[in-house]
Amino acid sequence: MHNPIHIKDFSLSFPHKVCFENFSTQIAFGDRIWIIGRNGSGKSSLLRMIVEKFTDISVACVPQIVSDFDPLSGSERFNKALSQALSKNPSMLLLDEPTNHLDRHNRQSMMRMLDGYLGTLIIATHDKELLRRCVDILWHIDDGKITIFRGNYDDYLSETRLKHQSISNQIESLEREKKAAHQRLMKEQEHVKKSVASGKKKVSTGKWMKMVGDLKGMKAEKSQGRALSAIDEKQQKLSEQLSGIRLPEIILPKFHLSHRDMGDKTIVSIIDGTIGYADKIILQNINLSVGSRERVAIVGNNGSGKTTLVKAILGDKNIIKSGDWNAPNLCDVGYLDQHYGNLYLEKSAVEIISETNPKWNHVEIRRHLNDFLFRKNEEVKVPAKNLSGGERVRLSLAKIAASPPKLLILDEVTNNIDLETRDHLVEILHEYPGAMIVISHDDDFLNKIQPDKFMQL
Ligand SMILES: Nc1ncnc2c1ncn2[C@@H]1O[C@H](COP(=O)(O)OP(=O)(O)OP(=O)(O)O)[C@@H](O)[C@H]1O
Ligand SMILES: [Mg+2]
Repeated sequence: MHNPIHIKDFSLSFPHKVCFENFSTQIAFGDRIWIIGRNGSGKSSLLRMIVEKFTDISVACVPQIVSDFDPLSGSERFNKALSQALSKNPSMLLLDEPTNHLDRHNRQSMMRMLDGYLGTLIIATHDKELLRRCVDILWHIDDGKITIFRGNYDDYLSETRLKHQSISNQIESLEREKKAAHQRLMKEQEHVKKSVASGKKKVSTGKWMKMVGDLKGMKAEKSQGRALSAIDEKQQKLSEQLSGIRLPEIILPKFHLSHRDMGDKTIVSIIDGTIGYADKIILQNINLSVGSRERVAIVGNNGSGKTTLVKAILGDKNIIKSGDWNAPNLCDVGYLDQHYGNLYLEKSAVEIISETNPKWNHVEIRRHLNDFLFRKNEEVKVPAKNLSGGERVRLSLAKIAASPPKLLILDEVTNNIDLETRDHLVEILHEYPGAMIVISHDDDFLNKIQPDKFMQL
């Protein structure tokens, strides 16, 4: 048990962006809170802030599992961290992207564990299936603030959609009104000009009419002037109203992955392969061929040896293999490993890309990074270790794209990325014409990219 927790004025800002400001709320014992938001919005940081602030209650946190040099597989690391966390019997449990790396079986048992846990639970995730379990409290970090919603995820989505629709309708109708007011103003001005001109003409035709003409003209000018300023005022009001409402800006990634055209040939071939470590065999009877335009999905439970197989294809020295193996050189493979090991964490995005493609000048590098949503100086110059989980995926992909590979190997590429990046990536991979090996537990992703072959381990 813990007493109600008061979060007061939590803020997180960087020189180039505000993640959230003055976030205040209360957490009661047993609350289940789900944190959502795009990559880099500040979810992991918020969890860290909670751990650091409330040291007087027993909090356990299972952090987002991204790059370090632990030899354990992603799921093994997560399960180890989770059982360590639970062994403290915490009254509050924080989980950051807990379903990354988990196969169907491990997912189910984690969900059961969540159902059985009675303490306070805070989970940051992009996983739609997991989010469907959210029935009570959502914190959405977006557009520099945190919105709290009480209800389930689907209701939140439809409510947000409705809200956005009504805002954009409002903007549209205000813009129409403003345009109409502008046209009325122009017409009115035209009218004023004409009637002043015609008044002058009338007056000049006869002296006796001068007085009458003057009076009439003055009256008309006065009322027209009033009409003009009324329309003008209305127009200004509309402009003000318009500047007061806006939809949160959604900047979508627009990157490409190019491939090196190899003609029609076999890129990878393994005949009667066996792989293992000094003390144990991991897989045997491996037979696989990947053509230059073929996409192969490797599927299998946690611990079945998917990543080991990929490492063997890449010629990892720690893996002992026998049989007949043919594969491109490491430098010709675009490899996104589960822990983004292709990134030197001390280097910045600009440094990483310029080393990958030394032919590019600074402008070309920035343009390339821009497509991957690294847009500001502060984003491209910080060391990669400061980037969020999803930002590291984007940077890994940017690195691969900076030097077109003969073979693309993606290990659990949908982990950590937000829904917008995921949609874009699916589109890109669907069109990708070259050789590709994907490892994934994500059925929805596999259905969408339509592999030619499945290899079940
Ligand atoms: N020293 C730093 N300089 C600049 N930006 C930084 C620094 N440290 C962290 N950031 C930025 O803070 C932001 C928030 O990071 P955080 O890890 O909390 O995001 P997140 O919401 O968990 O993202 P993801 O969904 O990718 O896990 C990111 O954009 C990250 O790049
Ligand atoms: Mg995170």
